Amino acid sequence: MSKTKIAPSLLAADFGNLQRDIEMVNNSDADWHHIDVMDGVFVPNISYGMPVVKTIAEHATKPLDVHLMIVDPDRYIKTFAELGATHLTVHYEACTHLHRTIQAIKAEGMKAGVALNPHTNVNLLKNIIKDLDIALIMSVNPGFGGQSFIENTYEKIHNLKELIKESDASTLIEVDGGVNSKNAKALIKAGADILVAGSFIFKTEDPTKTIQELKKSTDR
Ligand code: DX5
Ligand code: ZN
Repeated sequence: MSKTKIAPSLLAADFGNLQRDIEMVNNSDADWHHIDVMDGVFVPNISYGMPVVKTIAEHATKPLDVHLMIVDPDRYIKTFAELGATHLTVHYEACTHLHRTIQAIKAEGMKAGVALNPHTNVNLLKNIIKDLDIALIMSVNPGFGGQSFIENTYEKIHNLKELIKESDASTLIEVDGGVNSKNAKALIKAGADILVAGSFIFKTEDPTKTIQELKKSTDR
């Protein structure tokens, strides 16, 4: 049995056939639906907002892993809980009062995550790690799908894993950006627990098979 979780990023789905692509994920070996919300301020791109997340939630049968790339995420925590998010991840760089934000996410009954941009040192999580269900390492600069994987991600995962162990925390490590069959195994070996993949899954001819192979290749 594999402990690795695969979370296809619906950013790379065909929005004209969104229901079909959500159902593909429902019926695949994937574990979560990864939902990227971008505001055009925190990142230089706007993805989709509440009506689309609502539609995704209506059709999805697996946990909804929402990744907020927005400023002032506290304003929307309650809304995402009501929409059906099971996991809510905010960016370290977007939160002045991160501890308060994390507690607010948990108070709404969701699992709480913090994402780190490529330049952000994992040790900055030292004083909050025990409160986190997820630490998400961005392996590209957030804002767009289809970018190439940044190689220093392995070292960051390794350091984060050490921090989690030292702190006796049970935080899961999620990696997001440029994940594919070439780096998946090494990411898991470095300590990743959850792999997000967008283009690599949705731009293939048989996404279901791609998910299956990705999942199999990361069996532990
Ligand atoms: C990027 C998003 C990612 C993105 C991944 O800002 O957070 O989840 O969809 O896409 P790929 O796998 O194509 O890099
Ligand atoms: Zn994401």
